[in-house]
Amino acid sequence: MAFPEGFIYELKSRNDITEVISSYVALKRRGRNMVGLCPFHGEKTPSFNIYTETDSFYCFGCGASGDVISFIMKIENLDYVDAVKYLAQRVGLDMPEDSYDNSLSNLRRRVFEANREAARFFYRSLMSPEGKGGRDYLRGRMLTDATIRHFGLGYAPDKWTALCDHLKAKGFKENEIISANLGVKRHSGNGIIDRFRDRVMFPIIDLRGNVIAFGGRIMSDAKPKYLNSSDTPVFKKSENLFSLNNAKNTGSRVLLLCEGYMDVISVSQAGFQNAVASLGTALTSEQAVLMKRYADEIIICYDADEAGQKATARAIPILRAAGLTVRVLSIPNGKDPDEFIKSKGADGPAAFAAIIEASGNDVDYRLQKIKANHNLATPEGKVDYLEAAAKLIADIESPIERDVYVSGLSRETGVDKQALLTQIDRIIKKKSRDNRRKEARQLQTQLSGRDDKIDTERRTKLKSTSAEEALVAYLIKNPDSLRYIQSQVNAEQFQNSLMKRYFVYFSDRISGGLEPLNNLTADFSSDEQSKLYRILHRNEGIAMTPQSLREFIGVIQGESQKPSDKGAMTTEQINTYFDRIRRNKQ
Ligand code: CTP
Ligand code: MN
Repeated sequence: MAFPEGFIYELKSRNDITEVISSYVALKRRGRNMVGLCPFHGEKTPSFNIYTETDSFYCFGCGASGDVISFIMKIENLDYVDAVKYLAQRVGLDMPEDSYDNSLSNLRRRVFEANREAARFFYRSLMSPEGKGGRDYLRGRMLTDATIRHFGLGYAPDKWTALCDHLKAKGFKENEIISANLGVKRHSGNGIIDRFRDRVMFPIIDLRGNVIAFGGRIMSDAKPKYLNSSDTPVFKKSENLFSLNNAKNTGSRVLLLCEGYMDVISVSQAGFQNAVASLGTALTSEQAVLMKRYADEIIICYDADEAGQKATARAIPILRAAGLTVRVLSIPNGKDPDEFIKSKGADGPAAFAAIIEASGNDVDYRLQKIKANHNLATPEGKVDYLEAAAKLIADIESPIERDVYVSGLSRETGVDKQALLTQIDRIIKKKSRDNRRKEARQLQTQLSGRDDKIDTERRTKLKSTSAEEALVAYLIKNPDSLRYIQSQVNAEQFQNSLMKRYFVYFSDRISGGLEPLNNLTADFSSDEQSKLYRILHRNEGIAMTPQSLREFIGVIQGESQKPSDKGAMTTEQINTYFDRIRRNKQ
């Protein structure tokens, strides 16, 4: 997959990484670099860094890392070629002609096209005589024609190959139809049949207006009630939300999070277009982080039944962790939003507005649930209640907010406020101790390379690998040193095969007069790329002087003369080793 080197260079120089990222992440300057809240995982204190020296980003929290192209791939859910196109368009740069071909990219494009064609086909079939059952069903559920059109609802005919035949006639290949999960292989192995049959269809549309998947509802009580597209090259269920494409446009920074397709559609028809649904899965942190891009507050509108309440309890910490404030809708009489609105007839919209208005915040919600589970009439029940409540309040970050709840609790139970505060203080202290320990453990694991999936050799060859990493980092930052380095070590002396690959790769680029990091996204997998930036940034604080260079070289030379297996180091040895390296460098 080859874009001309110069084209990528120009693309990257015109798309300043800080500027590109700043339209997704609020950034603050820290020294030469910029920091912000990572858009790829939920966090409240910033660990997402942009390094201007290497034009790269790196998140200490989740390890996400790369250049401006990989940032766009990740955040816009694009493959390499499409991310390049996206950035080219952004700055009005012409794409080089036909110099690239990427089979995954082609397949993704075909899957998008097949989905679009399928959505049109389902919609037409809903409006045709054979779609009468589907139309009756949707009207029975009180959807207007305008709503049906707005959401692009459709009907999958009650036939074995209606859509497959249609797509084939439009030039789609069987493997493309299967990749889109619109058709599946027949059991006999001959040919393909439609995945969705005799169902009303709900297209799932991404933020850029592409149809990426479908949900299909059966019109009887048969099972499964909903059938959804499996994950495909363009769709990952855990990373998408139904109707976010509509909800993001309301400009309100509040989203209504529902359980299902029908809830979103009903709520939206009632005038609340900021509704989304988590596609029938338990809410994921990816979905929470995605919502955070368009909202500051989430109102959870899950079903009032037990399953819905369990899901609510699970969702609250995930949303909070993404930095969202949370309110919880309480729907009377065990209904879901769709049923509630319908039950109010013409007053549906006003009634729904009223329960939104009345929705309490998540802490109130959880305190109420805890209270309901304890018998406050007995002293033990009261103590248990207070302990559970204290635990919950200890999770709140703002001291003012904590104080408000503590006052309420004290008033309610007659227990001295100071006693409650002391208890909460104890929990907070213990939590921060636990956190520090956990971080220390994580750091140690990282240093020892025990969790390094890309570089599995690091663990057993720690000493040589560390020196080789430092040498690679030095070389990238000081391309002029190539000649000296090559006079001292050669690739064969590298013990770690990934480091050896990096070394050969960067040596070649530098001797060819190429910018070392320019084409990384094309030449390495995203994990290998992250790994490299991790090395660069890990070595950032360490002085990169000619003296330390000689030291790395010395280690590499020394290690290459030893018999190969020195066994894994113990944690203690690792720590001493790193301490020594650090001292030497300062
Ligand atoms: N769901 C699913 N597969 C199922 C059942 C449910 O994927 N077999 C998902 C769907 O996204 C559905 C959501 O879970 O919209 C909520 O499920 P449920 O509450 O059972 O459905 P409702 O939204 O009430 O749907 P309906 O009103 O059509 O009965
Ligand atoms: Mn429901």
